[in-house]
Amino acid sequence: MCGIVGYVGPRPSQAILLAGLARLEYRGYDSAGIAVIDGDGDLGMRKRAGKLGVLRDDLEATALADGTTGIGHTRWATHGGPTDDNAHPHLADDDRLAVIHNGIIENFSELKSELVAAGCTFHSETDTEVAAVLLGRAYRDAEGDLTEAFRRVVGRLEGAFTLLAMHEDHPGLVVGARRNSPLVIGLGKDENFLGSDVAAFVEHTRSALAIGQDQIVAITPQAVTVTDFAGQAVDVEPFEVTWDASAADKGGWSSFMAKEIAEEPEAVRNTLLGRIHDAGVVIGELEPLDDAFTRISRVIVVACGTAAYAGAVGKYAIEQWARVPVDVELAHEFRYRDPVIGPDTLVVSISQSGETMDTLMAVKYARERGARTVSICNTQGATIPRESDAIVYTHAGPEVAVASTKAFVAQITALYLFAMHVGRVRGELDAAASAGLVAELEAVPEKISTIIEREQTRIEQLAHWMTDTRSVLFLGRHVGYPIAMEGALKLKELAYIHAEGFAAGELKHGPIALIEPGQPVIVIVPSPRESALLHAKVVSNIEEIRARGARVIAIAEEGDAAVLPKADEVLRIPLAGPLFEPLLAVVPLHIFAMALSTSKGLDVDQPRNLAKSVTVE
Ligand code: F6R
Repeated sequence: MCGIVGYVGPRPSQAILLAGLARLEYRGYDSAGIAVIDGDGDLGMRKRAGKLGVLRDDLEATALADGTTGIGHTRWATHGGPTDDNAHPHLADDDRLAVIHNGIIENFSELKSELVAAGCTFHSETDTEVAAVLLGRAYRDAEGDLTEAFRRVVGRLEGAFTLLAMHEDHPGLVVGARRNSPLVIGLGKDENFLGSDVAAFVEHTRSALAIGQDQIVAITPQAVTVTDFAGQAVDVEPFEVTWDASAADKGGWSSFMAKEIAEEPEAVRNTLLGRIHDAGVVIGELEPLDDAFTRISRVIVVACGTAAYAGAVGKYAIEQWARVPVDVELAHEFRYRDPVIGPDTLVVSISQSGETMDTLMAVKYARERGARTVSICNTQGATIPRESDAIVYTHAGPEVAVASTKAFVAQITALYLFAMHVGRVRGELDAAASAGLVAELEAVPEKISTIIEREQTRIEQLAHWMTDTRSVLFLGRHVGYPIAMEGALKLKELAYIHAEGFAAGELKHGPIALIEPGQPVIVIVPSPRESALLHAKVVSNIEEIRARGARVIAIAEEGDAAVLPKADEVLRIPLAGPLFEPLLAVVPLHIFAMALSTSKGLDVDQPRNLAKSVTVE
């Protein structure tokens, strides 16, 4: 899973490519490279292991001749470690053809053996170089027609790929192909762009085209031509990017994550926009499925990581408001166990990027078996929504930090809107109930802002004191349980600390053995007003762990006096209905994980071994 960018036009391409790669670095950041056809028509290339900064420094130290046609790549290693040689681009046809790739070519070793037997030599361990060499040979067979060469090669490749290539013989031309990996076109004036997503070119144009599966695109400064793999012209969907480049910049914040947590109120607010009518929820994008909603007998939510925890929160709302049973499945487990799916099944996928391969494959699998599919997604033009029957976009804006924060609250918001829409259509949610829920949802952004204002400094202090902590446990019940899991995941990935989220009731069935004096435990306490029984149970769980020496940090509603004497620290959240507490309780957890990572001196935006968009299975 990598970021790719291509440019043709009148301007020097290196700065455009490097700026595009900087915005795509969330997709992978273990090596980077660019290739450019210079003013003399020669193809030059530079690539380096390490983050984009290493490549930039290298180019500053020793310039590469610039030109107006170029491609660039930022890598997340799959085949072959993160070395200079394995970085992209890869060259072929006597170094006159440059190729970059996102995805995995599953049959690369068979193809490589065949090419080695035919006398070809390789300079890297990557699957990409195999595609480059194949393309070089096909180019010669196709007598110098690069698009035709692509057509001949794509049929031989199995797996997922977006490939971009350019050839010294054709300055002013970049050709790309996609299968199960993202690629979008940016339309400029006398210039055109290609990118893994619109962030690659949004500072130059907001006018874009989404390319479908199994399609090939050729861009020149004046033209964009899209064909299918058989060479037939196809129509492509134009769309307008609704955010600008400044939304993807840090804008003075210490990190993208700090900015994105601060944007959590806005992410919720924007996701509600245009969907509330007369105190009820109507999602226009879902209306074509209204008839199907009345006939479904179950919902399966498929997602990974944080998005799956959002799904686990959403389950409570869908079951309660739409009265339909919900299972939440990790997308990568879903299709390997022969699940029972039929036309009465609705599969709801959740994905910030819209490109997570595990989730995409689960959606395709469900569709092939007759299920209806709804995508909850944050990225316009992404693959998963395009493969689904209906889309509910979360309007969280671009999320750049690798770990998801504002998208999580937007996903829960979208799931709640979805639950209310389906509940209304199924006759399960009347206008009065709906109005109450809408009022609760509309109040959430303000409440999140209050938490950030009141608690951020104290949470940062707490995190600072805990810099040397080696393990943190998280406990929750009911909707607090997925929030405990989310808190633990964020801490693992950002602060590299062992962390586990448990259902509080599960403690006595085993995990309580982990409690020893000084063990920090963060407990999400339900409201005593709204759920007295659950509240009492969680308070008694706190007593159990306190008795064994745990250091308890409670996240509790304002005015919950019962929790005060039991906890070492209490972080307060404003009053909310039981299903709306997760949208508040998660905020201190996001801040805590970010603060602990920062106090350990770690890279909070780009944690080790991870990438933002996981486009491999
Ligand atoms: C964790 C995180 C990941 C993603 C997961 C799914 O902070 O960001 O767990 O939630 O990889 O990604 P999307 O939502 O893009 O499908």
